[in-house]
Parts: sequence; C-alpha cells; structure tokens
Amino acid sequence: MVPTQWWVSTSLSGLDESAAVGGSTHPPRHHHGCSAHVQKILRMLRSAACEQSKQVHARAHSSKPVAKTSSNYIQNLNHWSKNMDQDENQKRNSEITQEVFGKAIMDLQGPGIPEEIMFSHRHQRTHKDEFESPPNKYCEYDIFPKWHLPVKTALILSLFIFTYTFLRDIIHPFVTAQENVFYKIPILVINKVLPVVSITLLALVYLPGILAAGFQFHYGTKYKRFPQWLDRWMLSRKQFGLLSFFFGSMHACYSLCYPLRRSYRYKLLNWAYQQVQKKKENAWIEHDVWRMEIYVSLGILALALLALLAVTSIPSVNYSLTWREFHYIQSKMGYLALLLCTIHALVFAWDKWIDLHQYLWYTPPTFIIAVILPIIVLTCKVILLFPCFRKRLQKIRSGCAAVTNETQITSKL
Ligand code: HEM
Repeated sequence: MVPTQWWVSTSLSGLDESAAVGGSTHPPRHHHGCSAHVQKILRMLRSAACEQSKQVHARAHSSKPVAKTSSNYIQNLNHWSKNMDQDENQKRNSEITQEVFGKAIMDLQGPGIPEEIMFSHRHQRTHKDEFESPPNKYCEYDIFPKWHLPVKTALILSLFIFTYTFLRDIIHPFVTAQENVFYKIPILVINKVLPVVSITLLALVYLPGILAAGFQFHYGTKYKRFPQWLDRWMLSRKQFGLLSFFFGSMHACYSLCYPLRRSYRYKLLNWAYQQVQKKKENAWIEHDVWRMEIYVSLGILALALLALLAVTSIPSVNYSLTWREFHYIQSKMGYLALLLCTIHALVFAWDKWIDLHQYLWYTPPTFIIAVILPIIVLTCKVILLFPCFRKRLQKIRSGCAAVTNETQITSKL
C-alpha cells in the first residue's frame, strides 16, 4: 500500500518533482512532443486496470495479489515518469502530461477497480485538499468496516458484564453488610468481564455456522442466499475470533498476576492467623487443589489454541496453507478451543452451581452466564455431527440436493 500512495502522490503532485532523481534502464529518450509518450502511458494504465479487475474477480476477498500487482504497476509507471523527466523537452510538456495522468487516474475510479487504487488516490487527494477544501470531505468512507460489528458487540457485552458484576460483587456487600470492597474493581471485576466477553465472542464465531446449517436445512439447497445480517456476521468471524483472543490473553495476564496483589497477601496472612487460632495444622483441601490445577491448565491450553487460530488468520500464513489445512485448523481446532474454554469455566465453577450464596439478589453468577452460549453452540455442533444430519448437510453443500430438487421439478413438468 505504501508504494501505491507514494507513487500516486508523486505523479499527481507534478512530474517535475522526480526530475532530480532521474536514471532508468529503458528510457524513451526522444519524444516528438509528448503525445506518443502519453499514449504509451495510457495503454499501460488501461492494461493495468484490466489486470486489476481480473485479479479482483478471481480473488474476491483477498487484497494481497491486488496490492502486489498495484505495486508492480506503480513501479513501471514510476520508471516512465523518471524517464520523462530526463528528457529536456519534458519540462515543456509536463503540465499536459500531468493533466493526462490525472484524467487517467480518474478513469481508474470506474466500477471493478480495486479499493487499493481508489483509496490511494483518495489519500493523495485528501493530502492535496488539506490546503484547498475542508478536510472532512472524505469522512463518509468507513475505516475497518469488518470490525464494526465485533467491536460494538464486545463493547456492549463488556459494559453489560461490568455493570452486572459491579452490582453483585461491589454494591451488594456495600448495601447488605456495609463492606467496602471497591478495591476489587481494577483487577477482580475486570477479570470477570474479560473471560466472559472472550468466551462469548468465541461462541459467536461458531454460532453463524450453526445458523447457516439451519438455513440450508430449511431451504434444502446451498444456492439460496442467507439473510443479509447472517452474511455480515459470517464475514466478520475472523474479527470476532481475534477479539476473543485479545480478551482471553488479557484475562490470562490478569489471572496470573493475582498472587502479586497486596490485597491477596494481606488475605493470606489473615487466613494463616485464623488457622493458627483454630489450631489447624494443615490447610490443604484436596478437591480445591485439583480444581485449580485442572482449570488453570485447561485455560492455558485453550489460550494456546486461540493463539494458533490467530496466527493462521494472518494473510501470509493463511496463504501458505491449503484450503483443507486452513479449514481444519479454523474449524476443528476452533471448536476444540471453545470446548476447552467451556470446561475451564465449568471446572472453575465446580460445585458452586448449587451453592445458593452465589445467587446474590436472585441473579446467577457470571460463570453461568459465560457458559450458556458456548454450551448451546457445542450442543448444536454435536447434533449436526449425527450421521443423519451430517449426510444431509454434506449433500446440500456439495450441491447434490439442489440438483435432485431440480431433477424432481423437471420430471414433474
Ligand atoms: C493462560 C490462560 C488462562 C488462565 C491462567 C486462566 C485463569 C483463570 C482464573 C484464575 C479464573 C478465575 C477468575 C476469578 O477468580 O474470578 C478463570 C475464570 C474463567 N476463565 Fe480463565 N484462564 C485462562 C484462559 C481462559 C480463556 C482462554 C478463556 C476463554 C476464552 C477463559 C475463560 C474463563 C471463564 C469464562 C472464567 C469464569 C469467569 C467467572 O465468571 O468468574 N479463561 N480463569
């Protein structure tokens, strides 16, 4: 992207600027006016535009090859512009050439031209227009369009869980026992928000797949379009997953720093003193030890899998994998990560489910809220793995179901 912007900027802000650079391997030394030269440039621009649109059609959602082609295309044109500058006649013709370049670039803004070129041009224009027109002229264009839905979802979830935990863990003891535990907000409350949001976002990565399967069962074909909201959701699954990893990593950091807190050390001292008072020699509780060993270990495993998923979603890594490898990691490993996270939360909860003290103000604890959606998603996935459903879905997805339907319709006619 950088070369694209740089080139367009150089070429449009005047070829004279590059005259000082000079030098090239194939300079069109003699120009009879600039018309022949300009025609060549236009021919190059046109062929580059054709190639760009071909690339866009071939790889609809990938920007990598387009960016690569753009930079080659820009390098070629940049050579040409340098060569032109070398020519003495160039100075005379530069204004005309600049105008033609400008028009050619404007032509490239037609339909089918990739966004990279459009945006680089826009970037340059914005730069130029800083001195000429209000800077908010191009504000209508969104940045990070695929992140809108995941970020909004994460923010709304975080706000909801924070308020919920704040009321239960801070306000409840304050109101009922005049106990001041506001010190819990920076770490303990936040560390309830982070894992709940993380696991919910992870479940939201796999929920649209389940819904899509439901729609395909309902339609009986893969050729009917999903509703627009589902389409949009499906397209932002990668962002949902990356955000889940981000929240999960922060949760791990917060969790691992628990013993570093001063409040924890004071509590530990108090417990030790109380134990001495009770003349109790050994504080070891076997099931509690096992509970913690298991859920921390599962949390670490789950985070490692989430890291693997995040790494394989990087375009350069993603391109080095075949479709089957990529699908295997993102689907199978993803479900495994979701399963591990869910078991991690369930083991953390252990037998607290049945403890009535956990239901403050008749509200369920956060670990129950955290596991509801993942359990629904995992259960649906297991149901879809039953042979009767799996075979039917495979048939629909391979297109056979539609063919059979069409054949039935034709035979009825
Ligand atoms: C290195 C990795 C991890 C460690 C060390 C870890 C550790 C912990 C700890 C110490 C708790 C108890 C928190 C508390 O006392 O309030 C906890 C709870 C929890 N963790 Fe993790 N965890 C890890 C990774 C994950 C991941 C990747 C997820 C999900 C994506 C996750 C989801 C949860 C959930 C849902 C809870 C229950 C929170 C609640 O409602 O209280 N954890 N984890």
